[in-house]
Amino acid sequence: MGDKLRILVTRRHLAEIEARLNSDYDVVLNKDDKIMSAKQIVARAKGVDALFICVTEPLDKETINALPKMLRAILTLSVGTDHIDLAAAEKRGIAVLTTPDAVTAATAEIGMMLLLGAARRAHESGHYLRSGKWETWSPTQFVGVEITGKPLGILGMGRIGLTVAERARGFDMKVHYRNRNRLAPGLARNAVYFNDLEGFLGASEFLMLCAPSTPETRGFINKDTIALLPDGAIVINIARGDLVDDNALIAALKSGKIAAAGLDVYNGEPDNIDRRYFKLPNAFLVPHIGSAAEQARTAMGMMLLDGFEALLAGKPVPNRVV
Ligand code: DGY
Repeated sequence: MGDKLRILVTRRHLAEIEARLNSDYDVVLNKDDKIMSAKQIVARAKGVDALFICVTEPLDKETINALPKMLRAILTLSVGTDHIDLAAAEKRGIAVLTTPDAVTAATAEIGMMLLLGAARRAHESGHYLRSGKWETWSPTQFVGVEITGKPLGILGMGRIGLTVAERARGFDMKVHYRNRNRLAPGLARNAVYFNDLEGFLGASEFLMLCAPSTPETRGFINKDTIALLPDGAIVINIARGDLVDDNALIAALKSGKIAAAGLDVYNGEPDNIDRRYFKLPNAFLVPHIGSAAEQARTAMGMMLLDGFEALLAGKPVPNRVV
């Protein structure tokens, strides 16, 4: 304690991260790991120099303005920043640090898992087995589609999109993408850039959403864009729930226009997600586990603490967003 800086840590973390926090800082821990409301965060943030948060703690303008004057930084264990009003933080001179790169490999892996699981009916077949219904092997049972050699459209060709493209090449998939900007050929490799939405969607037998939530990407999957996809397309979302209009996706999964979806992220997560998904056998669902690998979660925490140290030392902070 004494002259140590004080950090409010809103969630529990892997042992290595908590050990570093406890050794270097005067830590205000949320021992029972219960989600704190904005009000509780403000109340517990009195006298703290930094907040160590997650995507479970939305910080809007009002909350940010109520944080103590001495607060220097918000460290968020995420690459996404849609839960933080960055402009409000910037206005107050509070640095916001994130975890780019640390999540990339793990999130791309979950993308591939969802792609394979949705295409090969992992949820339905696994559920069938566990429910004790499996009596015979059958040539017609749980027949899915191969991803090998198929076209994969990637929306958002940032770090995660590029890594998904790499992994998909291992399955001989033909990658095409849509992005704010066309990538330099060396970076895009043989991925084909589509400027026009119709062409992009029309070619996307498989489609993976890897773009951040922005005004341009919100609601990207909707009635109109679904109509432009090939019949029987497979849609994967490892980005943010709000890229998808749930009514439209659920209707398309029911009609078969979309053969299957693999989802890691949801509107209203965790407690207010559209529960109609649970009834759909062709929805392969996991609860926002993109970065939930030991290596990624450790690297994320370390990156935040390294960045905070650099900030305090007046050095460049590569993972600072404002
Ligand atoms: C991210 O990094 O933004 C993930 O969605 C949460 O860790």
